[in-house]
Amino acid sequence: MRISLSEGTWDKSTADIVAIAVASGRTRLGRALGRIEAVTGKGSVKPLASDERFEGKSSQTLKVATGGKAKARWLLLVGIGDEKDGEKIAWRMGHVVGSVARAQKSAALELPEVTPESVRAAAQGLIGGSYRYTEYKTDKTEARTLPSAVILGAPKGGRGLTSAVRAGKAISESVNFARDLVNAPPNDLNPVTLARAASRESRKLGLSCRVWNKARIEKEGMNLFLAVNKGSAIEPRMIHVVYKPARPKKKVVFVGKGLTFDSGGLCIKPAGSMVDMKCDMAGSAATLGIVFAAARLKLPVEVHAVVGSTENMTGAKAYRPGDVYQSYQGKTVEVINTDAEGRMVLADVLTWAARKLKPDFMIDHATLTGACMVALGPYRAALYTDDDQLAKQYLGAAEGEGEAFWRMPLDGELRSSLKSPIADLKHVGGRYGGSITAALFLQEFVEETTWMHLDIAGPSFIDRPHGRLPKGGTGFGVATAVRFLESL
Ligand code: BES
Ligand code: MN
Ligand code: ZN
Repeated sequence: MRISLSEGTWDKSTADIVAIAVASGRTRLGRALGRIEAVTGKGSVKPLASDERFEGKSSQTLKVATGGKAKARWLLLVGIGDEKDGEKIAWRMGHVVGSVARAQKSAALELPEVTPESVRAAAQGLIGGSYRYTEYKTDKTEARTLPSAVILGAPKGGRGLTSAVRAGKAISESVNFARDLVNAPPNDLNPVTLARAASRESRKLGLSCRVWNKARIEKEGMNLFLAVNKGSAIEPRMIHVVYKPARPKKKVVFVGKGLTFDSGGLCIKPAGSMVDMKCDMAGSAATLGIVFAAARLKLPVEVHAVVGSTENMTGAKAYRPGDVYQSYQGKTVEVINTDAEGRMVLADVLTWAARKLKPDFMIDHATLTGACMVALGPYRAALYTDDDQLAKQYLGAAEGEGEAFWRMPLDGELRSSLKSPIADLKHVGGRYGGSITAALFLQEFVEETTWMHLDIAGPSFIDRPHGRLPKGGTGFGVATAVRFLESL
């Protein structure tokens, strides 16, 4: 999608469809509709709005034919409720236009305020809102998206507006990249092809991308990671992408769970719980999306993405409950339930990243537990860290991006539930607090690094659109991470 800036006003715009924000509440609604009718003619909008019960609520839109009174063929009234934040309004307008105006050739947006922040948000909304996964549809009209959009009311040479468009696009393109990976079916997206996708994108952006095969991972002694791979006919991969600017302010390592399919292993999942388990690499998709966004935006922070990828299958060599393996870190681990595979993979990768990369912050994204969804619902991710400042800064970034996180406790009292009678640790705790005990298990492997764990099991893959998130793979976590990196 081409996104451009124009000084023009909505009534002069020659786009096919023009989006205008309409607030709720009698007076504000009346004023907004009155302003439109001043151009399109008395009685051309208000009766339709009232028939359709369009009140400017944030869930509402109304498409109105201009009947030749304005240059555009259509007006799209976008309800914004009583939202005051210009950035949030701009994002919503972009998002609505991107998702609704697929059949049009061009669209224009009249934002209530034109600032670098709002322009960036509008561009982000446009690209994010136009997302659809059509890779496997043979009818190519399904893939149609709006080819061109104009942001109106932008003064010529307005400071920072052009780069704001570029930034908004860069972020949403990275989010959409993550969505594509998550939506890809698991017969085509496996650890080997995931690594290929990562190196292809890295090459495009001029980033280094190292990929380790099974022999290399064996040589490193990542036995917990390898245990999960034993039941699969496909090799595991560890993927390491680096973006390093000239004088980086900080070094941040993102780690991602990359289970391209989670059958549960021998502790097999029931069919209903297995059907969407291609989404179990969403943490790795987010992790890759983040490093690619950092590179596109040329952020002054060194960013690493480290992904541990394998399937969790039931082949004859599959790992079993009762098995004991020695981790890369050194501690021995007794396997309790082969469906708790994510923490096995992450444990080894986290230790490796902490020791070898010595980051200022290490942040993992993982679709780690169903328990997290029981606790927080399907649209909110859990955030775990002992660093109060980091938690606060991250939650602030998330608020700005409209992504929902909730800080959860690394409750030391539950640590005793990970005691094993025969090994140093068992890898699953008791019946309660499953998301917390999973986080506590990971914490055993991060050593001295400042670390944060994000359990994104809920919001990374959803069965209906919600807020900023589309149905299916959502790319959850990318936008928040980028805003966090910008705040360093
Ligand atoms: N990948 C799942 C968690 C998950 C569930 C992600 C639903 C997305 C949606 C994870 O590997 C898993 O199976 N966890 C188990 C852990 C249990 C065996 C201790 C779970 O949550 O049931
Ligand atoms: Mn599992
Ligand atoms: Zn899993």
